[in-house]
Amino acid sequence: MKQYLILLLLLSSLWAGNTIDTIIPKPQKIIANKGSFHIDRSTGCQSDTALSKNALTYLQSHLLKSSGFVLKASQKEKSIHFHYNPKRVKRAEGYHLQIDHKKILIEARDSAGFFYGVITLMQLMDPAIWGGKIGKKEWTIPACTIEDYPRFQWRGMLLDCSRNYFSKAYVKKFIDRMAQQKLNRFHWHLTDDEGWRIEIKRYPKLTKIGARRGPGTKLPFSTYPAMRGPKTNIQSGYYTQSDIREIVAYAKARSVEILPEIDVPGHSKAAVTAYPELLLDPEDKSRYRSVQRVANNTINPGLESSYQFLDGVISEVSRLFPFGYIHLGGDEVPRGAWQKSPAIQKLMRRRGLKSRREVQNYFFGRMDKILARHGKKLAAWQEVLDGKPKLRKSSLIMAWKNRQAGIDAAKKGYPTVMAPVQFLYFDQQYVRSKSEPGHTWSSPVSLHKTYAFHPLSRSSGNSTRNIRGVQACLWSETLLNERIADYLAWPRVFALAEVAWSNEEVREWNNFEQRVYRSGMKRLKVQHIHYRKSR
Ligand code: ACM
Repeated sequence: MKQYLILLLLLSSLWAGNTIDTIIPKPQKIIANKGSFHIDRSTGCQSDTALSKNALTYLQSHLLKSSGFVLKASQKEKSIHFHYNPKRVKRAEGYHLQIDHKKILIEARDSAGFFYGVITLMQLMDPAIWGGKIGKKEWTIPACTIEDYPRFQWRGMLLDCSRNYFSKAYVKKFIDRMAQQKLNRFHWHLTDDEGWRIEIKRYPKLTKIGARRGPGTKLPFSTYPAMRGPKTNIQSGYYTQSDIREIVAYAKARSVEILPEIDVPGHSKAAVTAYPELLLDPEDKSRYRSVQRVANNTINPGLESSYQFLDGVISEVSRLFPFGYIHLGGDEVPRGAWQKSPAIQKLMRRRGLKSRREVQNYFFGRMDKILARHGKKLAAWQEVLDGKPKLRKSSLIMAWKNRQAGIDAAKKGYPTVMAPVQFLYFDQQYVRSKSEPGHTWSSPVSLHKTYAFHPLSRSSGNSTRNIRGVQACLWSETLLNERIADYLAWPRVFALAEVAWSNEEVREWNNFEQRVYRSGMKRLKVQHIHYRKSR
């Protein structure tokens, strides 16, 4: 009898463990308690702070969509309480969640903390809460105590909307799904060789010419991936300034900041095709191709008109995006660019510049000053640190070639984000196979590989505090439709989120994999996200 009781106890505690072990990313501290709380149409809610507004709106809209009711503001016992408590919750974006049979208490010190408290609460509910289809009338939530906060401040995802255009609706879905995993930086790659996707009122040809692909348009139709994709116009499109304001507000309601990227001076075929008279030296006889094989795609830093143009672009971009940084690319300026440009030769003589590298440093020095005038800081790919750049020390560096590049940038004193291709480029195949979508130019990035990424190492030493976080990149050369984008993102975004949020001590692969397959994927399924199922 005694043995039987012990077995029963063991089983029930295991079962309780399972019902709370649904959360991705893993909370820093979670304790299962006895009992559960039930939400139904008689449940109330109360708050003593305006900081809970986004969180409450998010919860209410999901309850309305999946149950047809919302929580009524009430003082009664059986309710969900939002309480401003900076004494208990010490860290930015952190929250404290207490669930027992009578009450749910969510405490935080900022808007993001309340939002993440609600995300965790919803991950403890039946996955149907994410589905948006009316069905369930009552929700059972296991009693527990959770103390949680992010390991890193920068938890990002890049979506490349240039190589292939994604609709406003998809961009919103992408941001919402990020927020569901407590990711908080959407890096929006808006311009590249294959398309300029942001309306700039001063320069209408950027979108009139630079956002259109396919037969009869000025952008070379052969630009990747039109060559591989169906010969239709699916890659055409851009975001109006009003679209962008809408998306920025949508992201803000989910605690996501948007980092816009205008990729210069390389990766600029769309811009130089729209405005050759401003951005190219007519006397330049250089002929070159980028690593992606795009011919003559680079803005000329020897022309004053290039700086005037970029000043105009940045003035509009900086007013559209409230975030403090603008990303100006700086990656992969092709060898051979400007070699035979008289304007560059003149610039080099006048400024005493000795190499192409010094020309690029000069260009970014000026871009940094232009950004400063518009009240913004520079973000850029790691290449801007080659040579001797003159950049403000606040400039944010993104390391993509390998982890060491990030450690080096941090050691030089720059805030740094780790986005190494070997772990965090989600455009790469999961496994090497002809039947898998995705790029093959780097090594495959399995779910396990992403999870095994450790952003900090002993060798980063005192510079560790400069490593602000991690980011995955979804480049879109091969993303011919939303299904492929979904497939390459999911489930790898789960691993990214846990690397970004959870301390090393609480991370464990087997437990993570179970949460992904038992819970995370159910949440994707009800949202009709086309994720990769095989292990
Ligand atoms: C990059 O992948 N060129 C940043």
